[in-house]
Amino acid sequence: MRIEVDEKIKINEDRRFGELSIPCFGKSEEEIGKIKEEIKLGKNMDKIELKNNYLNIYLSDEFYKNFLKAPLPAFPKNNKTAVIDYSCPNVGKPLHVGHLRSTIYGDSIKKLLNYVGYKTIGFNYLGDAGKQVALLLLAIRKYGEVKNENEMLERYVKINEELKENQKLEAEVREIVEKIEKGDERTLKEVEKIRNLSYGTFERVYKKLGVEFDEIMGESQMILKAKKMVVEVLEKGIAKKGGEGEIFIELEKYGLPNTILMRSNGTTLYLTRDLALAEYKWEKYKFDLNFYATASAQNLHFKQLFKILELLGKEYSKKCAHVGFGLVGLESGKLSTREGRVVLLEETLKKAVESAREEIKIKGYSEEEKNKIAEAVGIGAIKFWLLKVSPEKNVIFNFKKMVSFEGDTSAYLQYTLVRANSILRKATEEMEGKFEFNEEEKNLLWKNYLFEKIVKEAAEKFKPHLLANYLLKLSAAFSIFYENNPVLKAEKAERKKRIAIVKKTRDTLKAGLELLGVPILEKM
Ligand code: ARG
Repeated sequence: MRIEVDEKIKINEDRRFGELSIPCFGKSEEEIGKIKEEIKLGKNMDKIELKNNYLNIYLSDEFYKNFLKAPLPAFPKNNKTAVIDYSCPNVGKPLHVGHLRSTIYGDSIKKLLNYVGYKTIGFNYLGDAGKQVALLLLAIRKYGEVKNENEMLERYVKINEELKENQKLEAEVREIVEKIEKGDERTLKEVEKIRNLSYGTFERVYKKLGVEFDEIMGESQMILKAKKMVVEVLEKGIAKKGGEGEIFIELEKYGLPNTILMRSNGTTLYLTRDLALAEYKWEKYKFDLNFYATASAQNLHFKQLFKILELLGKEYSKKCAHVGFGLVGLESGKLSTREGRVVLLEETLKKAVESAREEIKIKGYSEEEKNKIAEAVGIGAIKFWLLKVSPEKNVIFNFKKMVSFEGDTSAYLQYTLVRANSILRKATEEMEGKFEFNEEEKNLLWKNYLFEKIVKEAAEKFKPHLLANYLLKLSAAFSIFYENNPVLKAEKAERKKRIAIVKKTRDTLKAGLELLGVPILEKM
């Protein structure tokens, strides 16, 4: 159930000055009178008041009753396709905590876009054309085949150490990089093997996180297509050949750095391969939205990419979007994989789960229950801690705070949901009759009503933190309602109404947590 209001009406977050307000600055009494007449809210409106240059509209019990009866809003399918490019770790090394944000953020964007009507394609574009893959390839040639990812990490550390001592290796690595970037068939076959082996590690983590992809591809698979893109930019006259034979494009007049698209030795670059990837996605999916989530270090890269697509006259260049997010740190400081000083993502997840177990120790459950709860609380905590922050901002993990049941945490939300469900298990009655609502009931219902608007905004602006913060407010409103209004012990008519309110809130909170990928618990 939705009340239709036109754009000049502000939908208020809380009800202090009514649910809706119309700014009337500088308007005459006559004009304000006219605005009042145009409001067509019928029985949904209780009263309207002019205060501090705003016409404040208060909604009626009738509105709340109808809202309470209506199901959770469902968005119709919009016949649009969104490709969401996220996670995209580099092959040859295990995932570290830096990849976590793209994975979790992208997954939530995918869920949000799907909820508001898009057909979504989760796309994982693995970095397998860079120096570390070449290094690994060399390590495997030198020290023999690897059977699993641990052996791969060992090799990676070993070859890096050797590289420090033996400068000659650099030349060998460079040669391999060149072969990859030129699209040498035999080398690409070796890369493919490494990519597949690496993916096993990634997949284990994705499973733990409950994240899935629809298409997985390696950067190296775009090299031949990237070369075709180079031909196209030359033919269309938007790039030039330099003195050494390199292909470059001038972007300065668009306020962006000039850049090379192909080196004089015929190798392609990350940017060139992304041109090919965009074209590939367009050919395959005819997307309405082509979205990328990466660290903000790549902001410029994506500006260049989208600009070049535009210069190429690609109709889809306007359908591309990128969000660059801030850094993720542990309290202990910066991370590096180079020397094996790697903070593995799996260890981070483990630590979150252990912290969660500490937290629930006091509450006396069986071991099995504890494990289940700790897992869901720990994983949920990591996700929510990342998602409640605006993407461009940095995030620092604090395991103790993250898993706490109090504060702005997922555990608090999970617990609210468990409480609501346990009330509902004891009550089965259908709602009926005439309802009047007190302020706390209305406050909570109004928060529920805002869900649809928030989800839409979070999806369209690529801002899951709007939803995360909204859910905290929804839960706070529920706590206030529940503290002051008996539900199961209320007399008959009140009881029915309040059960319906609890059910409504449960449904909203559950849907919201699902969109953030936070696990839902039966008991905790
Ligand atoms: N593999 C890259 C990195 O870790 C991220 C790739 C993002 N996606 C893309 N289409 N460029 O830095």
